[in-house]
Amino acid sequence: MKVSIIGAGNVGASACYLLIAKEICQSVILVDINHSIAQGKAIDLQQASVALVSTTRIKTSNDYKDIEKSDIVVITAGVPRRENMSREDLLSTNIKIINEIVSNIKKFAPNAIIITVSNPLDVMNYAVLKLSGFERRKVIGMGGILDSARMAHAIIKRLENKSEIVNACVIGAHGEQMLPLLSHSFVGKKSVDELFDKRTCEEIINDTKLGGAKIVKFLQTSAYYAPAAAICILIEAILKNKKEMLTCSAYLDGEYGISGVSIGIPAIIGKGGIEKIEELPLNKEELKMLHTAATELKEQIDIADKLLKENV
Ligand code: LAC
Repeated sequence: MKVSIIGAGNVGASACYLLIAKEICQSVILVDINHSIAQGKAIDLQQASVALVSTTRIKTSNDYKDIEKSDIVVITAGVPRRENMSREDLLSTNIKIINEIVSNIKKFAPNAIIITVSNPLDVMNYAVLKLSGFERRKVIGMGGILDSARMAHAIIKRLENKSEIVNACVIGAHGEQMLPLLSHSFVGKKSVDELFDKRTCEEIINDTKLGGAKIVKFLQTSAYYAPAAAICILIEAILKNKKEMLTCSAYLDGEYGISGVSIGIPAIIGKGGIEKIEELPLNKEELKMLHTAATELKEQIDIADKLLKENV
């Protein structure tokens, strides 16, 4: 099992580290145009692998040829957010980078499943799908697992008994228009809106939505440990054919009454990639919010399409 990670920045390197530590695959290739950074990190990671007595091997490359025969290619390359920047502010820069990467994936790893991580996530995942021409099941955006982890964290912080099992569910865009679903998030068997008062529920929603921005404010760059964990959860579900229900960005073709955008929804993830899109029974208000998120994404997608047409 071979995983290639494009982009040796904080997210790419942290994902490598987890793949090694958890021995999720046999080999990892870390690709970056800045070969010096990739080499430095790869040596550090190789030494970590030896120390951990891990069977996962790691190599670095600045040649896309080395991604040949990858089962999964993860795209983390691109500029990250800085303070006071939205994920959408990254669109025009990152789309150029994505364009080049996808042409190399098509050439060298045409059978791989692609996991998109670069921001703005849902728009980039749409662009990857469009540029690759891959089946939609093979192009997965990493957003929902991360946002759901942030929601679970916001819930756990407010629990007296911290050992209770928390399952959070965030769908919609990986951005301002994300939808932390109170009625589909649980502490034990109780839904979050049953358990907490209205004000606390609003605080949980707020903390979830601002979860990424808060980290950017402190770090002056975006988060990486939780994003890396979310990437590894997706990789493991695919390589181990777990058929696990995970929230991710997927291209919709009529599901939830939405078409032509990639947006966060729960899906069954297994060796085929997105094996089934789950249609949650949403109430009227939730469905309306999901449609608003889709409409906003469509506007961003139109900008992306225009940039691609102008051959950025
Ligand atoms: C975040 C970035 C990875 O939400 O989108 O932290």
